[in-house]
Amino acid sequence: MTEMTPVTDAAAAKAPKVPALPDAQTVTEVKHWTDRLFSFRCTRPASLRFRSGEFVMIGLMGDVNPKTGKQKPLLRAYSIASPSWDEEMEFYSIKVQDGPLTSKLQHIKVGDEVILRPKPVGTLVHDALIPGKRIWFFATGTGFAPFASLLREPETYEKFDEVIITHTCREVGELTYGRELIEALKDDELLNEVIGEGFWKKIKYYPTTTREESPKMGRITDLMRSGEAFEDLGVPPLNPDTDRAMICGNLAFNLELKDLFENTYGLEEGANSKPAHFVVEKAFLD
Ligand code: A2P
Repeated sequence: MTEMTPVTDAAAAKAPKVPALPDAQTVTEVKHWTDRLFSFRCTRPASLRFRSGEFVMIGLMGDVNPKTGKQKPLLRAYSIASPSWDEEMEFYSIKVQDGPLTSKLQHIKVGDEVILRPKPVGTLVHDALIPGKRIWFFATGTGFAPFASLLREPETYEKFDEVIITHTCREVGELTYGRELIEALKDDELLNEVIGEGFWKKIKYYPTTTREESPKMGRITDLMRSGEAFEDLGVPPLNPDTDRAMICGNLAFNLELKDLFENTYGLEEGANSKPAHFVVEKAFLD
């Protein structure tokens, strides 16, 4: 008589690996863009529904507290860089060498686990804007992340005739993630099929740098005030009748643009509960 494997062992061998972390997801890809920037993809919780442009809390288990012997999750808000229809999740992150989370997160590898709380929130969503002709996405640094999601979201092209994305960074290398993502849209068979052949022709990409030589230098705020940005793009200044905008950058940038929109162009800030002309979100840095 052959010896039978006990049922429990067989079941255990077949069962999927039990996540060691609460809300654990598995890393599927990591790309380092500069010594300060990286992006990664991970599995998507089966139950997670979100709107392109929203953020979630992600992180890792913190160190063991020597006093209590316990570990607590170390979580930060991260914009989801992948669109709502994607099977996986994508995130774009800064690396801060002494940052509590990113000093560790920058070392993740394919197969590692990250914590992802499946509770998406945020204001950079189409629902917070009233219809218009043209949508502007304004980003600095890793503030590009929610727009990486919205640039791959069919609703963006269904709702608007023109999509303008401005990205201001200190150095040229910091633009690469965004530039490659936008270039890849042209050859994305799925998106061309789902959204419509040549959808990407609606996009006008306006990258600028402030601390390293590049074809277009300067802060987007200054380039708008001088009128240079509108001339370069071949569009009139923002107008409440036609233009809608989403802003995601550092705090000073957000405040300056908000002031410009409200006091120069006459736009009104919107929210999920009260859609209007523009919405703002802080790029979450650590
Ligand atoms: P600058 O180099 O002139 O400070 P950071 O890495 O500090 O978050 O900045 C990212 C980019 O955003 C930089 O190019 C920076 O320009 C720019 N920036 C910072 N503050 C503002 C602001 N108030 N308005 C426009 N751009 C800004």
